[in-house]
Amino acid sequence: MIKVANICCIGAGYVGGPTMAVIADRCPKIDVNVVDIDEERIKKWNDKDLKNLPVYEPGLAEIIERCRNVNLHFSNSIKEKIHDADMVFISVNTPTKKKGLGAGKASDLRWVEESARQVAKFSSGHTIVVEKSTLPVRTAEVIQSILRSSEEDNELNGISFNVLSNPEFLAEGTAIKDLENPDRVLIGGDNLEAMNALHAIYSRWVSKEKILFTNIWSSELAKLTANAFLAQRISSINSIAAMCEATGADVREVSRAIGTDSRIGSKFLDSGPGFGGSCFKKDILNLVYLAEYFGLNEVANFWESVVNLNNWHQNRISKLVVKKLFGTVTGKKIVVLGFAFKANTNDTRESAAIQICKDLMDEGAEIWIHDPKVNKLQIEKDLNIGKIYNRDSEENKPINKNGRWQFSKNFDIFDNAHAVLMLTEWDEYKNIDWEGISKRMVNPSWVFDARSIVDPIKVKKANLNLWRVGDGTSK
Ligand code: UDX
Ligand code: ADP
Repeated sequence: MIKVANICCIGAGYVGGPTMAVIADRCPKIDVNVVDIDEERIKKWNDKDLKNLPVYEPGLAEIIERCRNVNLHFSNSIKEKIHDADMVFISVNTPTKKKGLGAGKASDLRWVEESARQVAKFSSGHTIVVEKSTLPVRTAEVIQSILRSSEEDNELNGISFNVLSNPEFLAEGTAIKDLENPDRVLIGGDNLEAMNALHAIYSRWVSKEKILFTNIWSSELAKLTANAFLAQRISSINSIAAMCEATGADVREVSRAIGTDSRIGSKFLDSGPGFGGSCFKKDILNLVYLAEYFGLNEVANFWESVVNLNNWHQNRISKLVVKKLFGTVTGKKIVVLGFAFKANTNDTRESAAIQICKDLMDEGAEIWIHDPKVNKLQIEKDLNIGKIYNRDSEENKPINKNGRWQFSKNFDIFDNAHAVLMLTEWDEYKNIDWEGISKRMVNPSWVFDARSIVDPIKVKKANLNLWRVGDGTSK
């Protein structure tokens, strides 16, 4: 049995940081080292003030406090930590390619490739390499071939590798809970000894029947498929939300009715402003690219429509806001509540709020954004202010010719607003004093609730017009 006493994780991001924190917490005898090329990020992981950690996840700060500098270390010492490790996790970013072959769909593997090269160069003895980043199917092959050439060069030094796929299914906002109590842990590989070594780590806190062994390609494809199925459910329910609005039905009632069918299940049936997050779109486009590559065009079209529906749905919301505000939002103040792609995270990657705010600014609106966890700098980057951008055209076109935006961490932003648009389901938005706010807004004014979190009776009692996603009952 291969014994693992020292782990190195390349990539201290949303996946690497929390995953390694939980491994360190549950395996006190293993030394866990998280390394990153980004010095600022590592500084934040080592910040004494736990509020400054680069990733916000409920329960994470407590683990960092317990384990940091005990058996959990964050550093930029990539070479040294790879050298000392028995097991290396690759947990680096794999965004969609912007240029070249497969642009717009395939994943950009340059960071994975670079990590594999670092492992090939710096490791010593036998090393188990675990791919943790979400990757296109057959990426393990790329990693294997880089490592194999290093094995050949280093035959005399006794350097050897096994590659495993161990995709992460954690969702942001519940990362610690998902890591501590996963539905399953997937270990893909072709070497039983290496697979057992990883199994031994997880089985310290995960029951054995939840740890599944598969071949490496099934493991990679299972991860893409899980995300594609989840995203598909959201596009499905969002498409039905539009039907509800048109027909007088209520999407919450429809969700409840179909969710009680045990074959369908009740989770992931909340209509919202469209799915965001770093995974869904990227993973589906990966699947589309793969299907096209194998000449499976119908399969590619099927999955691509899930992303197309999501884009359409986001656009539908911004158009609807303009239409309800008498066809123009030029110079009108709109308060946007929530910028994160969902509650309980500071992550804004692919957040529906980005496109919706851009579209409204494009129409000349003055946007006031509030979010309890996202910072102003992040929003500035996401809105790409000063740069040029247009959703529908390949050639760039200026945005926010007339529109402006402001950010506020406090709630004192409703004066003279024409509308409040709710895009993230933060708890603090669930009990807003609508009567008080209504008095400060322009009359007539609107609440657009894209997350179904307001109490409609209270909003209407406050003399505000209300639109809720998928609510056709007021027709
Ligand atoms: C997802 C997968 O859930 C996770 O297993 C995988 O490892 C990474 O991708 P994440 O992106 O963190 O996790 O968030 P998730 O909770 O899945 O939500 C994704 C998006 O769908 C969010 O924008 C969320 O608001 C939206 N959503 C989710 C809905 O609109 N309705 C729902 O019912 C559920
Ligand atoms: P994820 O959501 O998959 O965790 P992130 O973008 O949050 O993705 O984190 C990935 C991290 O990987 C980043 O902090 C990035 O700096 C780091 N990284 C990328 N390439 C390398 C590399 N070759 N060596 C070390 N760290 C790397």
